[in-house]
Amino acid sequence: MTRRIYLDHAATCYPKSPVILDAMHDFSMHHEAAVGRGAYRASQHAGQIIARLRRELAAWIGAAGDQEISLHPGGTAALNAGLLGILKSGDHVVTTAAEHNSVLRPLQHLVANNVITWTVVPVDAQGQVSADAVLAAVTPQTRMVAVVHAANVNGAVQPVDAIGRRLVDRFDPASKPLLFCDAAQTFGHLPLSVTQAHIDVLAAPGHKGGSGPLGTGFLYVRREAQDRIRPTVFGGTGTRSESLEMPHDYPASFEAGNLNVPAYAGWLAGLRSRRDHASPQETLATSQGRLAELASELYSGLDQVPGVRVIGRPHVPVLPVASLAIDGLAAGDAAMILDSEFGIEVRSGLHCAALIHAAIDSPADGTVRISCGETTMREELESLFAALAELSR
Ligand SMILES: Cc1ncc(COP(=O)(O)O)c(C=O)c1O
Repeated sequence: MTRRIYLDHAATCYPKSPVILDAMHDFSMHHEAAVGRGAYRASQHAGQIIARLRRELAAWIGAAGDQEISLHPGGTAALNAGLLGILKSGDHVVTTAAEHNSVLRPLQHLVANNVITWTVVPVDAQGQVSADAVLAAVTPQTRMVAVVHAANVNGAVQPVDAIGRRLVDRFDPASKPLLFCDAAQTFGHLPLSVTQAHIDVLAAPGHKGGSGPLGTGFLYVRREAQDRIRPTVFGGTGTRSESLEMPHDYPASFEAGNLNVPAYAGWLAGLRSRRDHASPQETLATSQGRLAELASELYSGLDQVPGVRVIGRPHVPVLPVASLAIDGLAAGDAAMILDSEFGIEVRSGLHCAALIHAAIDSPADGTVRISCGETTMREELESLFAALAELSR
């Protein structure tokens, strides 16, 4: 098979480390058992994998404890669990135009059903929201401020820390709106401590920067906020089977049904191997440096290609994610030709983000999005720049 030039890491990272695949294979071949449903050793072993994964995830995001983490089949599932589990009739939500549809659509669903009201804070031409504007939109009815850590369309990193600090300064703990963060594009890529940034709820997939397979994700809910969240999926938890009520204790209350343990075994192995003997924070600092290097190579390379217009260039490119338009070519056609003629895989269109495009002035059919991972090589970017130069001739 010819080598793929894969530049769609914002969708999911590829290739997955063999360590992930080996762990999934090992679990399914030799230890397959449901978690919390049996007293036999294989089931206990599966339970240990889940317990270790919770601890590992808590360490990567600077959470106080592993009982603040529930596991979900992807970022969208985790985000929905957090949003729909918290918001109640009469709540007001402040969010941003940089959000992904996995935040915008659940919120819109609640707005359309007259459950909540919302304020969507605009972003600037770089896809950036200002902390001042977010804080100005907060009212006494605001129960949640939902901000994406980095926009998936152009990689713009949002001032989540500043928003968290200012919410804590302005409100007493009983009335403070919950700070809700979608870290889909940054988990495993950039350092972010939920404790330091005063984030109450955070959701992320495991399969992008998080060294996990597709269909993995987690939700973090700060212990003090756990009495404000109710489950959205109901069923067996392996405990208190005599009761028709879901257990009240998080995370068990958010994990009805059998967990995808093979995938979580792979995810745990991926996270562990990635940091080797270093701490998650040291690993994330290294990752941040590598991604900043790639971001600068990507943006300066794109600037050299005539006929290519960078859309929504971030103030400071931190992530190697760029959106572009190519003179005379529709985004979808450009992506198709890049694949069929040059073997370069990128995404085109609106990237499941409905509201950011007007601000960054995307063409009506959206953009071609290039997104690199830590393993992206300089030669791959050179091939991209050469292919774009041919396309725009
Ligand atoms: C910013 C953002 N949020 C949420 C998601 C949804 O994650 P998942 O694909 O794991 O459901 C994505 C995926 O592209 C994303 O980029």
